[in-house]
Amino acid sequence: MKVQPDQVDRILIFDTTLRDGEQSPGATLNVAEKLTIAKQLARLGVDVIEAGFPFASPGDFEAVQQIADVVGTEDGPVICGLARATRQDIERAAAALKPAAHKRIHTFIATSDIHLKHKLKKTRSEVLAIASDMVALAKTFTDDVEFSPEDAGRSDPEFLYEMLENAIASGATTVNIPDTVGYITPSEFGALIAGIKANVPNIDQAVISVHGHNDLGLAVASFLEAVKNGARQLECTINGIGERAGNAALEELVMAMHVRRQYYNPFLGREPESEAPLTNIDTQQIYKTSRLVSSLTGMLVQPNKAIVGSNAFAHESGIHQDGVLKNRLTYEIMDAQSIGLVDNQIVLGKHSGRNAFRTRLREIGFELSEQDLNRAFLRFKDLADKKKEISDWDIEAIVKDETQSQ
Ligand code: KIV
Ligand code: ZN
Repeated sequence: MKVQPDQVDRILIFDTTLRDGEQSPGATLNVAEKLTIAKQLARLGVDVIEAGFPFASPGDFEAVQQIADVVGTEDGPVICGLARATRQDIERAAAALKPAAHKRIHTFIATSDIHLKHKLKKTRSEVLAIASDMVALAKTFTDDVEFSPEDAGRSDPEFLYEMLENAIASGATTVNIPDTVGYITPSEFGALIAGIKANVPNIDQAVISVHGHNDLGLAVASFLEAVKNGARQLECTINGIGERAGNAALEELVMAMHVRRQYYNPFLGREPESEAPLTNIDTQQIYKTSRLVSSLTGMLVQPNKAIVGSNAFAHESGIHQDGVLKNRLTYEIMDAQSIGLVDNQIVLGKHSGRNAFRTRLREIGFELSEQDLNRAFLRFKDLADKKKEISDWDIEAIVKDETQSQ
């Protein structure tokens, strides 16, 4: 499923759970686990899987190679390997990616003065020449080459434009703009993409991609501004895992565009009402993918995490529960089933009302008379004062107790 810059009519989803996501402290995955996740990412419908950094370790090489072999089929996603802008890294990535039907080498070098001075100890003209040579080298292994000017968010825009023009002229088909340290604000990210479109003469020959970290909790909002200004590939991870505060979360980006598609459609040149999907993601696979990544990485999802947290579709207050039972639209902006959850969860606790209690009783198979219901409800309220959440077992015990004591 090769992607050409002029064929992008949707927002491409580049998943980096297995590369940047795995850089989360403590989230190491073995080869078999990476392969399992890659298969699920393919079912989810991501366009590109960044499978790892082959030069980093023999394990990463093997994982990228196996994913390229098993998941990188003719109608499967593009399989990508990361490489610094060095000959050894690029050759190693090319070797690992060899079995994939569609392969991408993603090479990067920093462009911010802070990185040039303190990390690379190189001048601007030196990094321009390195980027040119290494993009050209990557191009000898595959047509599909992505270039990232690391720390673009803190780079001088004029130098960034020059670097991107240079990378595209050397063969890059995707130029990725990373906010490596999660520093810039959403409106600044939007303006940066608009500036790139206006000032890089050959920009139409490449897909503009964005990559960002969540140090200030702004990554998803920044990406959405970037989309409005011309970004057509989003680099993200499942559950937002990644270096430090993590990367932009795939599920949040996809569902924001899905739920508000009338708002985003015009930025893709469509009628607001268009029902055509904005991404290739099968949203019904989102919850399952989130659970898989959480259990294999051991990184728990916070309960109040948007979209996939255990409370994301749960309603605790009596007023909200009553509203949702009458009509879900009262307190839900999306259907739990759209991310593959079986149903929303009414959490029964001390704030729950009779209506919620009766509905749960029906769901677990009890139809009580008004009289029995009143008595059981009083017992339930009593228990709820002592216990934070009331389980189905508690309810069953109350009902049996009440009905047998007659
Ligand atoms: O955050 C970053 O800059 C990266 C690059 C390698 C794209 O992960
Ligand atoms: Zn990153």
